[in-house]
Parts: sequence; structure tokens; C-alpha cells
Amino acid sequence: MSEKRRILLQLDTDAQPSTFDSIVALDAGADVLLRYGGVRPETVVPLVHGAIFTRGPKDLPHTAIFIGGSDVALAEQVRDVVRKTLLPQWGLSVSVMLDANGSNTTAAAAVRTVLAHQELSGASVLVLGGTGPVGQRIAYLAAQQGAQVRIASRQLSKAQEKVARLQARLPHGRFLATQTASESALREALRECQVVFGSGPAGVRVLPKALWLGQSSLRILLDLNAVPPSGIEGVEPTDNGVLRDDVRCFGAIAVGALKMKIHKAAIAQLFTRSDLHLDIEELFSLSATL
Ligand SMILES: NC(=O)c1ccc[n+]([C@@H]2O[C@H](COP(=O)([O-])OP(=O)(O)OC[C@H]3O[C@@H](n4cnc5c(N)ncnc54)[C@H](OP(=O)(O)O)[C@@H]3O)[C@@H](O)[C@H]2O)c1
Repeated sequence: MSEKRRILLQLDTDAQPSTFDSIVALDAGADVLLRYGGVRPETVVPLVHGAIFTRGPKDLPHTAIFIGGSDVALAEQVRDVVRKTLLPQWGLSVSVMLDANGSNTTAAAAVRTVLAHQELSGASVLVLGGTGPVGQRIAYLAAQQGAQVRIASRQLSKAQEKVARLQARLPHGRFLATQTASESALREALRECQVVFGSGPAGVRVLPKALWLGQSSLRILLDLNAVPPSGIEGVEPTDNGVLRDDVRCFGAIAVGALKMKIHKAAIAQLFTRSDLHLDIEELFSLSATL
């Protein structure tokens, strides 16, 4: 009998499963997409059972699960239930990837981009929009690389709460909460930073050029906002390492190209075995091979 078709269950916490994730999955080699919207931790178990109890262990590498949705915390809860429902002890398992709102692949691409130009060990890094899903993952990866990471928020208490969570996950990580609600606070947060990640919301300027221009320690600006105006003033979305006023700049479109490569390679990898769990660490490792 010919090889089984590659089936991807796309489990999305949003009412409408993401068309972006569907298209990437098909382009990355899934033959059949089973798309489910409004997936919740309490409704996901039968979907997983359907995936693992149909094909036998030999064919299960041809079935995989992708978990997405704009509510990253909810998607993580779904991921936890999915993992608990698998029965690897009997070979009844499928590979699983989590990339809610693109946060894992985007953060992996952002940090990998910087690492190609700047050692992060010992560097001071500022993450603007650092309390969002992408910023949190950038902070985690940068701290894992040995950076001292400042998590910026408009509210100090919010940054502190996120720092506490990151610290629990990475006890040796060096994190600092910083409030950036005013220009003077932003200027202070930028002091002696080598790298700034702009991870604020789409269409919102989080750093005016006047604040970073002439900041002598600054080496790299990376902005993830592709919707005008740019998040970091002076960085163009297509910048891919261009020097602007002596600072190397990366924009959202350039970083997005690597994000797409990581996303596609990860989907393809899901179909190579039945026991992969692709989350932020695994996707970041994968990015090193591309
Ligand atoms: N290129 C790609 O492939 C790709 C993929 C995914 C995402 N992205 C981009 O990555 C960026 C980050 O995504 P995300 O989902 O993590 O962002 P997000 O959750 O929408 O926002 C991040 C943080 O920005 C702060 N913020 C909200 N409104 C603000 C405002 N008006 N002014 C200043 N700060 C504000 C909030 O922090 P506080 O309330 O704590 O201040 C929030 O936690 C976005 O620009 C998104 O478009 C790019």
C-alpha cells in the first residue's frame, strides 16, 4: 500500500482557525488539513483520541497536531491537555507544535537574527513591548544566551509580574523590570543597552529616533512591527542589517522571512516522527540549522 497522506490537525483557540497557519502548513508539505476553531482545553481530548486511535504506531508519523490562536495562554493550556492525552507508552503518539499567534517562531527568528551579528552573553538587552507573547519569548531566549534582559512595560507592576514568571522558568536568567511610560523613563531604560527589540503592538511607535540616536553603547535595533508607523523610528520594515547612524537595523519584513522558514521547517519536521514537541526551545534550536 502507498505511504499514508500527511494529515495535520490544526487546533485553533480562535473561532476561525488562522488561514495564515493553514496556508503555511500546506506549503510546508501537509497533504490534508483538518481545521478546528474555538478549541478549548475541555473540548480537545476527543480530537486527540481521533488522531491517535485511527492509524497504528507505524503510520502515526504521518499525523501531527499544530496548536495556534491569538490567545497564547489559552493555546498553552490546550497544548498541556494534548500532551497529557497522548499515549506514547503504547506508541500512540503524534508530534505536536505550538505557535500561538506566531509568537514562538517570531521570537526565535528575532533572537537568531541578532545572534548572527552580536554575542548576547553579557550584553544588555531591552525588550520594548516585553510583556506581550512575542516579547516574553524574546526575553526568555536572550536570557538563555546570557544576556541581562530589561523587560519594558508602560506599567512597572506588569513588567515585574512577567519578570517573576520568567525567573521561575529560568532561575539563572538575569531579568529586570522597567517602566517606559515616559520619554525620560525610556531614555533611562536604554542606557548602556547594546540591543533593543521592538516588540510592541502592530502600528504603534514604541521608540522615537531622538531617544536612541547617539546612544553610544547601542549596536542593534530590531523592530517586529510591520504596520506603519514602524515601532522603532528610523528602522524600515525591509532593513536586514543595514547600518543607520552606526546602529545595525532589522525590520519586521526581514525578520518575518526567517520566521516563515522556521515555521515551514518545523511543520515538515513534525512528519518525520511521532514524538516531537516543538515549542520555543525546539523552534529556536531548529532556527540554527536553517
Ligand atoms: N513579523 C512577523 O512575522 C510577526 C509575527 C507575529 C507578531 N509580529 C509582531 O510582533 C509584535 C509583538 O507581538 P505581540 O503579539 O507580542 O504584541 P502585543 O501583545 O500586541 O503587544 C505587546 C505589548 O505592547 C504593549 N502595548 C500595548 N499597547 C501599547 C501602546 N498603545 N503603546 C505602547 N505599548 C503598548 C503592551 O505592554 P504593556 O501594557 O505592558 O505596556 C503589550 O503587552 C507586533 O508588532 C506583531 O505585529 C510579527
